[in-house]
Amino acid sequence: MSILVTGGTGFIGSHTVVQLLEKGYDVVIVDNLVNSKKLVLNRIQQISGKMPKFYEVDCCDEEKFRKVFEAEKITDVIHFAGLKSVAESVQKPDLYFSNNVGSSKVLMKLMKEFGVKNLVFSSSATVYGVPDHVPLKETDNVGGCTNPYGQTKLDIEYLLKDFSKENPDMNIAILRYFNPIGAHPSGLIGEDPQGIPNNLMPYITQVAVGKRDHLNVYGNDYKTVDGTGVRDYIHVVDLARGHLCALKKLEQKPGLVVYNLGTGKGTSVLELVSAFEKANFIHIPYVICDRRPGDVDENYADSSLAYEEMGFKTQLTIFDACRDSWNWQSNNPNGYDEGDSNEGVCSKSK
Ligand code: NAD
Ligand code: UFG
Repeated sequence: MSILVTGGTGFIGSHTVVQLLEKGYDVVIVDNLVNSKKLVLNRIQQISGKMPKFYEVDCCDEEKFRKVFEAEKITDVIHFAGLKSVAESVQKPDLYFSNNVGSSKVLMKLMKEFGVKNLVFSSSATVYGVPDHVPLKETDNVGGCTNPYGQTKLDIEYLLKDFSKENPDMNIAILRYFNPIGAHPSGLIGEDPQGIPNNLMPYITQVAVGKRDHLNVYGNDYKTVDGTGVRDYIHVVDLARGHLCALKKLEQKPGLVVYNLGTGKGTSVLELVSAFEKANFIHIPYVICDRRPGDVDENYADSSLAYEEMGFKTQLTIFDACRDSWNWQSNNPNGYDEGDSNEGVCSKSK
């Protein structure tokens, strides 16, 4: 009886796998390593004391993916696998649709074929498009996505809703994440962006570690507390716990449910910079630049439904996230590349 975690060697997936293993679940990871490293498995084992089963498989490859379902007794799936760069999705929209929507279609087909009833899906606050108010509730309008990546998340949500109608015995939790930051407090796993980071926190940590000269703050003329963009930053350890709450919720056979996973609190770019400086005693130089196309003034969650229906509430603070992000970055200045030479390749993985 195993939980299948697609994309389980990625940033959010690896933190979730650690918690699943710590709670005694058997875990099977499927990942094609397009945006993660096999070394993550060793780190997961170091933290949890257990090695998850691992298949290097592309979820779009139906035949290979089917073999995983044949080999393992899967009861539940958490579907993290997907490409997530907003900028890259604008350059390569076809790749994003074929990978993100395609892998989800294959997964739904195989779940049906093998009678697997419970699915947790990684959606995003990006499905709310350009919000006309905050905080955002699950019942608020979706659509008007500003990039192909966001559109893939919305398309998958619609596919899942249709799938749920056709298969009323399926239980599906769509989780709309706000802005995940932070890292495991051990400093062994964390976010490892390739190239120049698109997102704010990895950019800040790369300035702190000396890889980048300064932070570019994209605009200070937004209608916000200090003119810089406001977002809902959720610690990845809290976010990961949200997936365990969702699995518990699915045991109640709720059909299809949708939850925001956020803190309910907005933080501006300059507030995050200041929190990072205070948490770590490191100065972060910054320059105010033009707005980044597609960015919105404010985006934060009404997080009450996840609390009311599945008891999920964040426990960690922005300060915790700034401390843990820096702990990860300072211990792994080159992300997982650093460890490749001396940690070897995980021997138990398939
Ligand atoms: P990540 O890139 O670190 O992890 C995704 C994993 O999926 C990677 O390990 C990658 O190798 C794997 N993958 C991609 N396509 C695959 C395929 N076809 N088959 C098998 N494996 C594949 O990203 P993350 O930050 O951990 O995000 C996880 C999920 O959460 C993604 O679906 C992402 O869109 C969603 N999400 C992320 C954020 C964020 O800011 N990090 C916000 C909202 C939603
Ligand atoms: N920002 C900067 N400088 C940077 C990077 C970001 O000033 O170098 C600002 C942005 O303008 C924005 C804020 O920091 O105001 C947060 O930007 P991120 O790129 O970290 O996050 P976004 O809210 O733009 O997008 C993130 C994910 C998306 C996801 C969305 C909602 O990247 O995939 O959250 O969940 F869809």
